[in-house]
Amino acid sequence: MNPNIGITENNRQSIATELPELLADEYLLYTKTRNAHWNIEGGDFHSIHLFLTIY
Ligand SMILES: [Fe+2]
Repeated sequence: MNPNIGITENNRQSIATELPELLADEYLLYTKTRNAHWNIEGGDFHSIHLFLTIY
């Protein structure tokens, strides 16, 4: 299959190489943020907790 989407083969290959790392970084950030939002302490707990809530 030879996709014709206006991106050269070299650029498609570069994108395909970088995307998994970007996805992994994003998922790690999501997971850490999700975990941290349960560990907020203090009077601002509720507002910070809601701010960090990701669905
Ligand atoms: Fe929550």
